[in-house]
Amino acid sequence: MTSERPWPLRAGGIAYGGDYNPEQWPVDVQLEDVELMKEAGVGLVSVGIFSWAQLEPREGDFDFRWLDAVLDRLHAAGIGVALATATASPPPWLTRAHPEILPERADGTVLHQGSRQSYAVSSPVFRDYAVRMTRRMAERYGDHPALAVWHVDNELGCHVPHDYSDAAAEAFRRWLRNRHTTIEALNSAWGTAFWSQRYDSFEEILPPRSAPTFVNPTQQLDFARFSSDEQLAHYRALRDVLREVTPHVPTTTNFMMTTANKWVDYFSWSGDMDVVANDHYLVARDPEAHIGLAFSADLSRGVAGGAPWMLMEHSTSAVNWQPRNSAKGAGEMVRNSLAHVARGADAVMFFQWRQSTAGAEKYHSAMLPHAGRDSDVWRTTVELGGHLRSLAPVRGSRVTADTALVFDYPSWWASEMEGHPTQDLGYLDEVMRWYRALWRRGVTVDVVSPGSDLTGYRALVVPTLYTVGDEDAARVAEAARAGASVLITFFSGIVDEHDHVRPGGYPGAFRDLLGVRSEEFRPLQEGESLTLDDGTRADLWSEKTRLEGATAVRTWADGPLAGLPAVTRNDAGRGHAWYVATRPDDDGVAALVDAFLAEADVAPAVAGLPGGVEAVRRHGDDGTSFLFLINHTAHDVDVRVTGHELLRGQDVATRLTVPALEVAVLREH
Ligand code: GAL
Repeated sequence: MTSERPWPLRAGGIAYGGDYNPEQWPVDVQLEDVELMKEAGVGLVSVGIFSWAQLEPREGDFDFRWLDAVLDRLHAAGIGVALATATASPPPWLTRAHPEILPERADGTVLHQGSRQSYAVSSPVFRDYAVRMTRRMAERYGDHPALAVWHVDNELGCHVPHDYSDAAAEAFRRWLRNRHTTIEALNSAWGTAFWSQRYDSFEEILPPRSAPTFVNPTQQLDFARFSSDEQLAHYRALRDVLREVTPHVPTTTNFMMTTANKWVDYFSWSGDMDVVANDHYLVARDPEAHIGLAFSADLSRGVAGGAPWMLMEHSTSAVNWQPRNSAKGAGEMVRNSLAHVARGADAVMFFQWRQSTAGAEKYHSAMLPHAGRDSDVWRTTVELGGHLRSLAPVRGSRVTADTALVFDYPSWWASEMEGHPTQDLGYLDEVMRWYRALWRRGVTVDVVSPGSDLTGYRALVVPTLYTVGDEDAARVAEAARAGASVLITFFSGIVDEHDHVRPGGYPGAFRDLLGVRSEEFRPLQEGESLTLDDGTRADLWSEKTRLEGATAVRTWADGPLAGLPAVTRNDAGRGHAWYVATRPDDDGVAALVDAFLAEADVAPAVAGLPGGVEAVRRHGDDGTSFLFLINHTAHDVDVRVTGHELLRGQDVATRLTVPALEVAVLREH
């Protein structure tokens, strides 16, 4: 991703800081904040995200004095600001004066004020107010020396990814006219000959509001696309004002890749971002949450087109919004932070700077916890600041990979709809099953969209790419013909971009490439599993497949398909195409990944590391490389490497010990 407004504007290394909400505190605390930020080495804070009601307490009555003082104080301390548009939460006077801006659920429930994000993103009334507020912020602070980057709104679509209000209905109709042009084309794309759903005009169309039973799936898919586009349209509207008033300042907004929001197709946003920013929170109940973190970071880099990106939020310890909010263990906060840096982040930021004492997030950890400075969290905050200073030379370097995993939001949306062969399929589960195996193998993975350039990868994993257009399917086939090993899993290539089945046998779009043809899906019942000929257990899915050019790598050993292929491999030009027509257990996936990577000749970043030790490289323009070694295990690990270890400032001649639960970063050349 290239931008005329490169981030960061100011010199320096990896940016360090967090969300800063000074409006929650008296001035003496704000003064202490700045002193403590200096102590921790904080250089960038996000300010003003939820400040609208404080900045405009009554309509048209603005009070910027307190924010002026905050920004001046930060600047005097050498701290930059990711300044928000202050539009993330409309103030009560606005929702009272204009209740029509409130969003609605599919069942008509109105989402009122009293929380945050109580706005319908399609509401022209809200848009006007948000644009006006953004302009005021840009005009007031565009020349402020603390301003480093604009932070538009906050986690757009986080709580209200889908709005079903009348404002949304109107915008949806406009969007549909644009996409389908005529009502005939829409009828054909939506398959409305089914169940008497034919539309005579665009005026008859509604969002997929609650209905007696299954709502038209293409209507749902288009509504998901529309909803993602509406968030992007809102971003663009505010971004355009910022660019007009402050053309020299880069703009971003914080994404929520994987933790919460499946409903925004971030790949479609990448061209609009000066720098990609992501928020990531660990899933506390997942014993391997660090692998989910790695995926989110690789996806952030994919959305950024390989460029460095910002980790805009994560947590120092527990969050407050999961059922049970585990505190982080020894070294975990540093490992988490540096794992993001290893995978391309040039900023490490937290929610939030100082832990709140009031409000819904008072039990969410922060850089400065309730306990104050005499706490392990604070000591770790200071320690991390020191580490990031040592890592300044890493800034701007890039991660490269021979392996890509194709990730597709529309397939996520469409594959999990109702009325399918099984309700047990979770798109992200399928993706993570293969990603986890690659992570355990120590292989660095680019997470990319099917619309991106796939040539140049030696190995391509394509899990459950359910909906795929002809061009994207051709791109996958082309990668194989050019020499890649491509592995495609079940329920891929089944429907086109309108969610219409590709007839003639499954997996429609990939039949020729894979050299197989399936005539029937045979999903398994909950708890049921079958055996493959190598002893692997497989569950969730089977299908009646026959070879049409491919060879069988695994066959079913029992069940109604005994003897038929379950995993296949086909020659494809200079490469190969594998098909996995079921869901093997973890050992089965690992064995297939081993064989597949061996064929593709893909090596891990460092060979021979024990399980639980993560290794990733970033490469600088000048041939320098930085090797991140993250030890998630309770044992010290010796690694044969040469270079200079940046965190401890030691030369390494042949062998480096990475202590249990710690990180080492080696400058290799
Ligand atoms: C994010 C949000 C922050 C804060 C945080 C808590 O989703 O952007 O404002 O709520 O979660 O984890």
